[in-house]
Amino acid sequence: MQHITASAPGKCILFGEHAVVYGHPAVAVAIDQRINVRIEMTESDSHDWKLDGLTFDPKRHPHIEAIKHRLWPNSLGAPPLSIQIGGQIPAASGLGSSAALSVAASAALRVARGRWLNNSNSKNQPEDWAEGFSSALDDTDVHSSNQPDDSMRKGELGNKVEFIGGSEAVDADECALIAHAVEAIAQGGRASPMDSSTCSHGDVVVLSDCIEEGLEWQYSRRLKTPEGDREWQIHTVKPPIEDVYLVIGNTGVHAPTSKQVEKVAEMLKQQPERIKEIETIGMIAKRGIKSLLSGDYESVGRAMSENQLMLQSIGVSSPELEDLIRAAAPSSLGAKLTGAGGGGCMVALTTNPKATSEAIELAGGITIISTFGAQGLAIEEAAESPFWIVE
Ligand code: MEV
Repeated sequence: MQHITASAPGKCILFGEHAVVYGHPAVAVAIDQRINVRIEMTESDSHDWKLDGLTFDPKRHPHIEAIKHRLWPNSLGAPPLSIQIGGQIPAASGLGSSAALSVAASAALRVARGRWLNNSNSKNQPEDWAEGFSSALDDTDVHSSNQPDDSMRKGELGNKVEFIGGSEAVDADECALIAHAVEAIAQGGRASPMDSSTCSHGDVVVLSDCIEEGLEWQYSRRLKTPEGDREWQIHTVKPPIEDVYLVIGNTGVHAPTSKQVEKVAEMLKQQPERIKEIETIGMIAKRGIKSLLSGDYESVGRAMSENQLMLQSIGVSSPELEDLIRAAAPSSLGAKLTGAGGGGCMVALTTNPKATSEAIELAGGITIISTFGAQGLAIEEAAESPFWIVE
């Protein structure tokens, strides 16, 4: 049977959540836990998609609906699919489950569709693509209300001259870009590319307001938010290998990102002077990036704990998170909430994962241990692709 499985890792934020939405620097690490998306051609005659065996309901799965619109549109005659979602990342817990889902689904659909190029013998660079989304293409706006219905390019740029299929057609920037657009829709127009880029590229991702020396710059990302235009520079880093681990403690409290992001936006609207706290988070992140690059994990841990104090101050921590962070402190280099807060998970950086994990569990958290930085998106299997080629 024709099927494709793609996977993408979850993420933990070391520094800078919330402030990154306002353009400040931030650092995230891809974790070992992943989301898998398997797609198959459906055998029924119906035009409906199936999701985990049931008829797909776009209202319940807005992420999938938005991706379908961009990569698998009915308007071009794309056939219905059956999709199965699996993995080890709990939803709405600050570990990037929705970004990982969007990245993996985008990658699977790109393999299922392949990619037309508008030149023969081209190098498969975005300028040669007859279809697709890329940070390198200024005409691509995948988020705003005048978003294209599909990734086909128009006029001569959409000439279908050469076709590439399989995992060669997949582009990590494209998957991150689509996932960012989808996150922005879900978060009321306020979303940084932190989760989407980390789940796509893997390892460690640094976002900044400028191109940082010593890091591998990947691309710029822009977004119009309700509070103004934002631009981020996205970099990847392979951190020096050390014996350090991330221990993640889940409070079990469901905490949707959109509500927390809105809460911070409302606070800044009512008390504009509190932008100073957001700026302080940005400064802590800048310091943390330097420590990370020099492999000074003790300073990285200290910066994480300082960051937590600021997150507390802007009101996105919670008593449950504080309990787990306090329990982790004696055996770790630093600990803080990760993601939007209000519940969800905390993360501790530690050289003694067993002791840290036990302490968090004793305080009532459910733990996950991860190495520091995991592989980005991956095509796990691709049997008999493409499923469909745009005519
Ligand atoms: C969510 O993982 C991190 C936030 O900063 C939101 C975002 O960056 O879009 C709270």
